[in-house]
Amino acid sequence: MTGLTDFFQRPINYLRISVTDRCNLRCIYCMPPQGISLMPRESMLSYEEIKIIVEAAATLGISKVRLTGGEPLARRGLIDLVAMLASIPGIDDISLTTNGLLLSEAAPSLKEAGLRRVNVSLDTLRPERFSQITRWGSLDEVLAGIDAARSVGLSPIKLNTVIMRDVNDDELFDFANMTVDEGWHVRFIELMPFETTDLGFVPIAEVKKRIEVLGALEPCFTEAGAGPAKYYRLSGARGTIGFIGPLSESFCSGCNRLRLTANGQLRPCLASDAEIDLRQPLRNGATKEDLIRLIQEAVAAKPEGHRLGLEDSSCIAMSRVGG
Ligand code: 5AD
Ligand code: SF4
Repeated sequence: MTGLTDFFQRPINYLRISVTDRCNLRCIYCMPPQGISLMPRESMLSYEEIKIIVEAAATLGISKVRLTGGEPLARRGLIDLVAMLASIPGIDDISLTTNGLLLSEAAPSLKEAGLRRVNVSLDTLRPERFSQITRWGSLDEVLAGIDAARSVGLSPIKLNTVIMRDVNDDELFDFANMTVDEGWHVRFIELMPFETTDLGFVPIAEVKKRIEVLGALEPCFTEAGAGPAKYYRLSGARGTIGFIGPLSESFCSGCNRLRLTANGQLRPCLASDAEIDLRQPLRNGATKEDLIRLIQEAVAAKPEGHRLGLEDSSCIAMSRVGG
């Protein structure tokens, strides 16, 4: 196996797969209340089609796969997909990003099917506020999901917290304290301007500075290619605090990923509309070699960096590309 390297010498070993653009929530930073126009079902890849693509990607050196959405657990039979992907030689890390609503029920069978770990989106620890941010979700269900994931050994569990000024930025200490009291791994994420909103942006450097009032943050060792977060630990904490600043601290130079949308488009970069269609070729009988060539094309098309936050940047809903 030679491995994939892009034009800028970045090794590409990670594929994020959006399995659906549907979601059972409407988070204020992600979707308008009425939702977004949905992909026709027949345009969505079947699990068998996803498997064929991942098999081709694995021959090229993709070893890590993350399932995202929309809400991946909102698609029926997701556990079967996990099992199908786990059986592919070369795929050694399967993870899931979820809003957690359906996690308590699914956790045991996900684990059994070969899922290794989960990231759960959680922007507030206050029940009423949770229903406002997600427009109707119930915090208790998500907390039960986190507990279930922990008890079946889906580990580590990382919590994704998008910080918005005057919405949840008064909870920084509460989240940080959970890394001490409960051993949580919390990742604070800078708001990205995807869904056109007037939500308040908080630079990630400010988030870090405000947390440092609680005590010194010791940098944690993180393996190369661990992704965009920088991790720290409060003294004595079992859990960690990660900071992700897509806008103010570009991490493009360490980018190791490709994205597959639910309708079969391979996206070289989250922040660009460029896509390479795999669905039509697949449905027209493409061979594994054809798919490999298309994946290589997507890798070759990876831009060096993004222009998010700048005036001509593209605007796409996160639920379409899976974060
Ligand atoms: N800005 C930052 N993060 C976002 N996410 C969704 N939309 C945005 C946005 N506009 C996060 C979700 C989830 C992850 C996949 O992306 O909270 O945890
Ligand atoms: Fe759904 Fe996630 Fe978007 Fe919230 S952020 S609406 S949970 S896809």
